[in-house]
Amino acid sequence: MASDPVNVFDSLAEVYGDAVETARGRYETIKSAFVERFGASPDAYTRSPGRVNLIGEHIDYEGYGVLPMALAVDTVVAVRKAGDQLIVCNVEASKYPEKAFSIDPAQEVDVGKHNWGNYFVAAYKGVFEHLAGKGVPAPAPAGLQLMVHGTVPTGGGLSSSAAIVCAAALAVMHVHGIELTKGEVAEFTAKAERYVGVTSGGMDQAISIMGMPGIAKLVDFNPVRASDVHLPEGAVFVVANSLAISNKAESAVKHYNLRVVECRLASGVLALMLGESKDTARSIITLKEIEPLIEAKYSGPKASTSGAQIAAVQELLHDGAYTTTEVEELLGVKLTDLYEGNASALRVLAANDSYELKNRALHVYAEKERVPAFRDVCNSEGDVETKMSKLGALMDESHASCRDLYDCSSVELEALRQVNKAAGAIGSRLTGAGWGGCTVSLVREGDVDGFIEKVKEGYFKGLVKAGRIQEEALAEHIFASKPASGGAVLKLKL
Ligand code: GLA
Repeated sequence: MASDPVNVFDSLAEVYGDAVETARGRYETIKSAFVERFGASPDAYTRSPGRVNLIGEHIDYEGYGVLPMALAVDTVVAVRKAGDQLIVCNVEASKYPEKAFSIDPAQEVDVGKHNWGNYFVAAYKGVFEHLAGKGVPAPAPAGLQLMVHGTVPTGGGLSSSAAIVCAAALAVMHVHGIELTKGEVAEFTAKAERYVGVTSGGMDQAISIMGMPGIAKLVDFNPVRASDVHLPEGAVFVVANSLAISNKAESAVKHYNLRVVECRLASGVLALMLGESKDTARSIITLKEIEPLIEAKYSGPKASTSGAQIAAVQELLHDGAYTTTEVEELLGVKLTDLYEGNASALRVLAANDSYELKNRALHVYAEKERVPAFRDVCNSEGDVETKMSKLGALMDESHASCRDLYDCSSVELEALRQVNKAAGAIGSRLTGAGWGGCTVSLVREGDVDGFIEKVKEGYFKGLVKAGRIQEEALAEHIFASKPASGGAVLKLKL
C-alpha cells in the first residue's frame, strides 16, 4: 500500500529469493569496492528494481493508470555517512566514473552536462525538497560516500534511471534517519527525476518502490497508488532488448519531452474547440482534465468513455501537424510564454516548429482504456487460454497504437517484434518510452524455452555474428520475467 513504510529487510533472501547466492556474491563485490575506495564498510545498502510495463504506454503523464511489474534486475547503493561531500562511485568505474558534489540540497542539476551522477543529485535534492514541502524540519545534510552497482540495462526502456534515483533516495533517507511512506517516495522521486531533464510521468518510480513478488500492479496517480493484478497462471512475460539504445534524457527534445508538449497542446486546442475560453484552454495541462468537457458536449450513455473522447478528437483536431504559429494563434499566446520557467519544455520549443496533436490524443484516449481492460481480463473467471488470447490482443493493439499514432517505435523494435510474433508470442509490444529498448511478449509457460531459442536465432544470432554482443551475454538480452520485489533498505552483515 502507498501508505506503508518503505521495506526494510535484514537478509538478501527476502529480496532475491532463489537467486540469493548470486546476489550475495554481487553484494560482496560492492562491499569490497566500497572498502577499497573509502577504507571503511558501508553503513547500509539500498536497492530498487527496474520494471517492465505490461500495458499503458505514454499515458501516466496524462494522468492515467498504467500496469507494470517490478523486475529482478536492480540498482544497489552502498552508503556511509562521512566527510563533507557527496562522493558517488560505481563498481563499473570505467563506464561510470567517480563524481563529487556538494552537500547543498539546493544545488542545480547540470542537465547541460549529462552524466550518471546527475541521477544521484536529483534524488538527493528530492529528499530535502519533499521534507520542506511537508513543512517538517530536515536533518542537517551530511557528507556521503556511495558505491553503486546496477543490473538494469541502460537505455533499454526498463527504467534504469528510476532504479538508481529510487535506490539513491532510499540511501539518503536511511543515513539521515528519514522515514517516509512508499507513496511519498514514489511521488517525490518522480518529481526529482525531472531534474535530469525528462518530464516523465510517475510510473517507473511508483513500481520500483511499490513492486511486489508475484504481483503486477495497476498504478494510478494523483495521488499515486497501486492495486494488485494477479497474472493468469501459466502466463509468462519475456523481455527482449532490441539493443537500439534509447536514452530518454539525451533524446528528450525530439522524443519524450516533445510528446509531453504535444499532449498538452492537444488538450488546450481541444478545450478551445469545445467552447472554452483561450484563458481556460491555456491552463489545461493533460488530456484527462478535459474529459468532463467532452462528456458535457457528447451526452448520452457513452459520454464518459473513450468512444466519446475519440469521437471528439476525430471531429475537433485536424490531421497532420500543427505549426507553432497555428497553435499560438489558437491559444492566443506565444508558446515560449505559455511555458515560461519550464526549462525542459523550452528546449523542446527551440528544437521543433510543428506538433502532431490528433494522433497523440487518439493514442492516449484508446490506450488508457486498455489498462483497466487488461486488469479485468486478469481478474475474470474463465479458462487461461481465453484470457491469454485477450491479453495478447490488447498488447498487440497497444503496440500498433504506439507505432502508428504515437510514433515511438523504431526499426529495431519492429524487427524484434516480428520475430517475437513468429516465434509464438501471444502478444508482443514495445515497453517503456520506446524509440529503441525492449519488447515484452506474452508466452505460455511451457513454450518459454522454445520461444527464447527461436528469438535468439531470429534476432540475436546476427548481432552475435556481427560482434555486437557476446553469445554468453544473451541471457541479459532476453529473459522470462516474474514480478519481483520493490525498493528496500537492507541492513546486512556481509
Ligand atoms: C518512461 C517514463 C514513464 C512513462 C513511459 C512511457 O518510462 O519514465 O513515466 O511515461 O516512459 O509509458
